[in-house]
Amino acid sequence: MDIKIKNAKEHVGQSVTISGWMYNRRGSGKIYFLQLRDGTGFMQGIVTENDGGKASMEIAEKLTMESSVKVTGKINQHPKKEDVFELVVESIEPVQICEEEYPISKKEHGPEFLLDNRHLWLRSKKQWAIQRVRNTVINATYEYLNDNDFIKIDSPILTPNACEGTTELFEIDYFEEDKAYLSQSGQLYIEAAIMSHGRVFDFGPVFRAEKSKTRRHLTEFWMMDAEMAYCDHEMNLQIQEGLVCHIVKKVLEKNRQELEILERDIEALEKVQAPFLRKTHAEVVQELREMGSDIQENDDLGADDETMLTKKYDKPIFVEKYPAEVKAFYMKRDPENPNVALCADLLAPEGYGEVIGGSQREEDYDVLMERIKEHDLDPAVFDWYLDLRKYGSVPHSGFGYGLERITGWMCGTHHIRETIPFPRLINRLRP
Ligand code: 4AD
Ligand code: MG
Repeated sequence: MDIKIKNAKEHVGQSVTISGWMYNRRGSGKIYFLQLRDGTGFMQGIVTENDGGKASMEIAEKLTMESSVKVTGKINQHPKKEDVFELVVESIEPVQICEEEYPISKKEHGPEFLLDNRHLWLRSKKQWAIQRVRNTVINATYEYLNDNDFIKIDSPILTPNACEGTTELFEIDYFEEDKAYLSQSGQLYIEAAIMSHGRVFDFGPVFRAEKSKTRRHLTEFWMMDAEMAYCDHEMNLQIQEGLVCHIVKKVLEKNRQELEILERDIEALEKVQAPFLRKTHAEVVQELREMGSDIQENDDLGADDETMLTKKYDKPIFVEKYPAEVKAFYMKRDPENPNVALCADLLAPEGYGEVIGGSQREEDYDVLMERIKEHDLDPAVFDWYLDLRKYGSVPHSGFGYGLERITGWMCGTHHIRETIPFPRLINRLRP
């Protein structure tokens, strides 16, 4: 019977076949321990002449690291560890034996070597665990949004205009049109869709030609933008809080084994409970200055500022009301203080920093037109976006999260390049 390793405990005492790979082997002569994996989990196969015969011993001896194999044997409960099962091997069918030595060995490799071999590195235990957590984050996001009346609307990737900073655009030649740009965020397009559906989200790759070489920046990453009609700044934060709590809950529920492999501090994740902390940008500037930062009143938070601030707290922090001048043109100003935007960035604790950016949007035609001009943007390319303020405009808000940043936080990875299957960085386009 063919089974998956994750279901081994339902087959104790039975003879089963596992199709997978041998990622390591110990022993020699009388007994071999094959470290097997099949995508769903990991398991040790024990080969002796007694149980497997001479043929199995001969094949076990020939198997090289990362060879693909089908192994048949009896499932045993580990004598000491509960929830660990072993395969007493009866026969081995090699599918492909690697003739060349597998490039990634047990010894320490540098990050560049591992990234050059990303197509193989993905098989390593920690990398396996990270992609499983990423998958949970994706599914939990769909789940939460669908349960809260959002529908998914796919936004275009080729766009005629910028959404965020114009200095970070990837530009391409586009037939008769002069230039097209790769989308930085689908936000503007899903703003159109809320006037049809009320609550919508998109989820896809976005691109930033950012020169930032930090552990938080990729040039291609996955963003989920959510947008809501008849929603103010306060409601916007509540939805974000609900979504993040749901994601953390699902990761804790579904990825125990993965978090263990990653040696993630589970208690830190368990502390991620509503309500999150809230501080205004002005308060944070003062707090940071007291901690030794040279941040000025009208500065955006720097990478070091985010790290320093979030190491201090064990809950996520909404930093609200940034100076309008450091934020995007579409953000509504605070009616109580027009110098600040009705916005918030959500900063994850433990030094992770910004994972979400969001705001209430300017819904008035004239004010929005003024902002577009202030930001030196061409009103003609935003004519359709301005139309939304002409025909049934409503107060609305939204936010966008970076999937890799959320996944990195959940997994406790230092650099987010490990959280995307094939990272794109300023100096990396391969494999
Ligand atoms: O804060 P950002 O730039 O906000 C927007 O793009 C809005 N239009 C979103 C919206 O309101 N719908 O980006 C949103 C999030 C950030 O908080 C961060 O998590 C992630 O996207 N992000 C990046 N992740 C990896 N590499 C980069 N270069 C990133 N830039 C932003
Ligand atoms: Mg941001």
